[in-house]
Parts: sequence; structure tokens; C-alpha cells
Amino acid sequence: MSSPLVVAIDGTSGSGKSSTSRGVADRLGLRYLDTGAMFRAMTCWMLAQGVDVHDPAAVAARCDEPEIVSGTDPLAPTITVDGADVAVAIRSDDVNAAVSPVSAVPEVRARLLRLQRDVIASDGGIVVEGRDIGSVVVPDAPVKVYLSADPSARAIRRAAEQGGADVEATQASLLARDRIDSGRATAPLVMADGAVHIDTTPYSLDEVIGLVVGLVEAAEART
Ligand code: DC
Repeated sequence: MSSPLVVAIDGTSGSGKSSTSRGVADRLGLRYLDTGAMFRAMTCWMLAQGVDVHDPAAVAARCDEPEIVSGTDPLAPTITVDGADVAVAIRSDDVNAAVSPVSAVPEVRARLLRLQRDVIASDGGIVVEGRDIGSVVVPDAPVKVYLSADPSARAIRRAAEQGGADVEATQASLLARDRIDSGRATAPLVMADGAVHIDTTPYSLDEVIGLVVGLVEAAEART
């Protein structure tokens, strides 16, 4: 029996990663893990504790404390910290502004890497989305996808998801996060070796899901 399927989906904020990953998992009957939600949950906890998120040593000193649990149903993903549902809180402007510096702290990445690998290994195939899934978390994943989109298209999508937020401010916030995520020393956002790049700008969500499902079917046909 071959090992359970892992589909690694990386890319910039607002490139359509979450909707695509959930859609692919749903179509193929796989689990789904949103690793960005885990970094957001860590950030949310740091802010609630009053930790200075711009002080890497302070963040590192506390990052083993919160218990972060991700539910993996693609139709109803959940995220809790110390038993509390933080699905709404992790999308706040405060978390958007603080998540990239927290994610750049190596101790945070090491802690969440362990949690991510536990979830991935636990039970059956899974679609995993993030920034370093194909490069660091599961470098031997049989399917790796790198999604990108024009900054203006990404900002329009993200602002719509946030109930009509300001598009220009949303674009500035996305680009600021891209800069930090791509420039950090530990596990920066890169296109992993062997990843297929899809620029989602001209496609509908259904079309992108169809492209990724096609890649998975082609990979399965090879094994
Ligand atoms: O996918 P997202 O926008 O919810 O991710 C939020 C932040 O989490 C992102 O700006 C960088 C960080 N992140 C990361 O560093 N590594 C991952 N695998 C996933 C997210």
C-alpha cells in the first residue's frame, strides 16, 4: 500500500490558496490543513497575552505555551487555542498586522512544524496549504502547487472575503506581508523544487480547482 496522498499548496496571501485547497480536498475526499490559521492562532494568543510581537526573543520564550488544534474537514475547518474557538479572531486587522513578524521567529516555526507533521501523519490523505509546505513541511509531497495572482486581483478577492474592506488598504497589507514572508531567514515563501506554478489571475475558482485535481490524478496515475 502506498503512503497517504499529500497535496502541498503554497503561495502568496490572496492567491486563492484557501478556496482552492478546500475545493480540491472536498472533490477528492481528502482532509484539509490551513497552516496559515495555525500561525494566526499563535499570533492571536501572543497579542492576548500582551507579548511584544516585534520582540523575537519574547515571542520565542512563550511559543510552546498555547495548545493549538486544527480540525481538518474541508467543509468546516476549525481552529482552537486552549480550547477556545478563534476562527473569527484570527482574521482581525490586529492579527493581520502581527502575523508575519511572529511567523518569522524560528522557534514558532519549529513548534508549528511539529504540530503540522503530527496532523499530516495522523489519518489518510490531506491537502495542506501555506508558504513552506512543499519546501520544508512535506518536501517529498507527490503533488506541489505554487499559486500566485496579480496584486490587484488578490486585493479585490481578499477585500470581498472581508465583507467589502477597502481594496487599496487591503493590497498594501497583502504586499507588506509578502515582503516579510518572502524575505525572512527561516522557511521563506519560495516556489518549492518540483512545484507547478499556476497564476490564478485569469481563472475562476472552479477552473483552478479543476487544474489542481488534474495534477493529483496525473500523479496518482504515475504510481
Ligand atoms: O495564509 P494566511 O494569509 O492565512 O497566512 C498568514 C501568515 O502566516 C502569512 O502572512 C505568513 C504565515 N505563514 C507562514 O509563515 N507559513 C505558512 N506555512 C503559512 C502561513
